[in-house]
Amino acid sequence: MNVNEIRKDFPLFQKMINGKSIIYFDNACTTQKPKQVIDVIMEYYSEYTGCAGRSIHKLATKTTEKFEKAREKVAKFIKAKPEEIIWTRNTTEAINLISRSFKFEKGDKVLTTNLEHSSGIIPWLHLSKKGVIDLDFVFCNEEGIFDIEDFKEKIDKKTKLISIVFGSNVTGTKVDLKEIIKIAHDNDVLVLADGAQTVPRIPIDVKKLDVDFLAFSAHKMCGPTGIGCLYGKLELLKELSPFILGGETIKDTFLDKKSFEIEDVPHRFEAGIQNYAGVIGFGAAIDYLSSIGMKNIEKQERELAKVLMEGLLEIHNLELVGPKDWENRNALAAFNIRGMQPHEIAIFLDEKNICVRSGMHCTHAFHKYIGFDKGSVRASLYFYNTEEEVKIFIEELNNIAKTLGK
Ligand code: ALA
Repeated sequence: MNVNEIRKDFPLFQKMINGKSIIYFDNACTTQKPKQVIDVIMEYYSEYTGCAGRSIHKLATKTTEKFEKAREKVAKFIKAKPEEIIWTRNTTEAINLISRSFKFEKGDKVLTTNLEHSSGIIPWLHLSKKGVIDLDFVFCNEEGIFDIEDFKEKIDKKTKLISIVFGSNVTGTKVDLKEIIKIAHDNDVLVLADGAQTVPRIPIDVKKLDVDFLAFSAHKMCGPTGIGCLYGKLELLKELSPFILGGETIKDTFLDKKSFEIEDVPHRFEAGIQNYAGVIGFGAAIDYLSSIGMKNIEKQERELAKVLMEGLLEIHNLELVGPKDWENRNALAAFNIRGMQPHEIAIFLDEKNICVRSGMHCTHAFHKYIGFDKGSVRASLYFYNTEEEVKIFIEELNNIAKTLGK
């Protein structure tokens, strides 16, 4: 994999801002887009704008073909069937789709964790507050590592679902999802995984994982914003009760019976006009990542993780979130510099054209748990970043830490 060649695909990396190129280390938030993705979005809007699944003229027919082709691509990417992919706006909406469509009975329990992103915790807190579910948590240690036995202990006869983040956006660690799924299935419990940070980084096979539901977003994997998906096992999707209904979710309407006949899965979950450009762009992002190869992407991230962690650990007043060993994390690190505020550090880095995120990263519960009440700074890399960029970042951060930190 030739990273310098790959970078030529990304218009942003060809640009100078304030006379310097950008070092983009905010990939856990969103990734940059290659021209291969931008071009197909432009093509949809300039050459064949139409609605999928409705009109039969040539523009609409082409939209339908491209829209469904993208579904096939996303499905193949994670080894699913096309009808097991439901388009959503993002990972958040996919998790909400489950929280709102799952047929919970009074007293049913959902198990989640203290490491979740807000998207994986607020929908459950909401249902628990309304008295729809009982909610319980498994706690990781301060490095973000779980003791698998804790899942066994927390599951009881009322537990229906485990909702868990596959890869953390703040510790960079991954859970042993396969093992958790095994424990869950041994107890007739289903598993919904938040794959937002993991699907973009490693090869995924939903059948081998045996995961019941998996949510992820296009924009964290070189695709456009505003489009994501929910994977679900077909027989389980058929059991859900769609929470948004309207155009394209039904086959027929009967006013006399005051009823309607629902569409098949997945279309029953895709109400109204869809984000066609987004879906088609998602398909192009899948083509792009597949042409590089997910194994190569994973390998490049391992190498970046090593340089990043080795560099950060040399900064004497840096307080790291998560494990110190790079083998146990993605090329992602959240940290603080003693004596400084996270936003302050991010602003100083931005002055050097280095983009990082600062704040709570939508993980308030975990930040409070580890005593980082003001949040942290996070550098999150992707396969198109280089070791040279990491070295510049470490040098600039070290200068800031030496002059302004304690
Ligand atoms: N989930 C995104 C992040 O971690 C927004 O930055």
